[in-house]
Amino acid sequence: MSKRVTVKTIREMKANAEKIVSLTAYDASFARVIDGQGVDVILVGDSLGMVMQGHDSTVPVTVDDIIYHAKSVAPQCKRALVMADLPFMSYTNPNQAISNAARLMQEGHAHIVKLEGGEAQLDTVRHMTRHGVPVCAHIGLTPQTVHKLGGYRVQGREGQVAKQMLSDVLALQDAGADAVVLECVPVDLAAELTKELEIPTIGIGAGRSCDGQVLVLQDLIGISSLAPKFSANFLSGGRNIPEAIKAYVDAVRDASFPSDDQCFF
Ligand code: KIV
Repeated sequence: MSKRVTVKTIREMKANAEKIVSLTAYDASFARVIDGQGVDVILVGDSLGMVMQGHDSTVPVTVDDIIYHAKSVAPQCKRALVMADLPFMSYTNPNQAISNAARLMQEGHAHIVKLEGGEAQLDTVRHMTRHGVPVCAHIGLTPQTVHKLGGYRVQGREGQVAKQMLSDVLALQDAGADAVVLECVPVDLAAELTKELEIPTIGIGAGRSCDGQVLVLQDLIGISSLAPKFSANFLSGGRNIPEAIKAYVDAVRDASFPSDDQCFF
């Protein structure tokens, strides 16, 4: 069996210009297959609110929901780093965040937690990382704030917002974050953020320059109700599910995914 992927591994992968492959999983069967195909980071994402529970956003997802799914996923991950989302309203202050992060790690067996936001989360990220909780930040399109953002749309096209994102990611890194997800960010901005950071960026709709890519499983196998522009159906061309996941892994590693058609400019 290959060695467990850790937060140190993904930092080294960035340093060695090796692409990081991430994919969501919410149950044991898919987690076992995804881990077996060499995905580096398996995310128990709050996207489960949409793809497992059928809601139109991630807002209704609770900490108990994430734990329920993480408990099924984590034991199957023999190699992958298991990341779990802190859902909406579960990290409104550092103490609440750390106690919910502890639950994701102790009950859900996650290795790292992910939260959405930049500057507003600095105290929380600092508090958690100082107490030994690995943290991945998530900026750009932050789905938990969809009602505040006014819809699912690209973030960072305006100079002021782009500038704020650069200062956010640098501050998050200083606060101890181990990685940053960039969602729906124009390719040039994502490339700049990636270049400025020592910690890895994992993109979704943020272009090939990111240090890694993440997708929602249901998008990758073409069964989402609305296929996002930044995804691709890897199940096409007669592949079975393990082959589709392997094709995604290979395409991220050789930087053929995402193509220009799957990016925002
Ligand atoms: O919940 C999720 O699946 C995510 C990815 C879209 C990055 O946060």
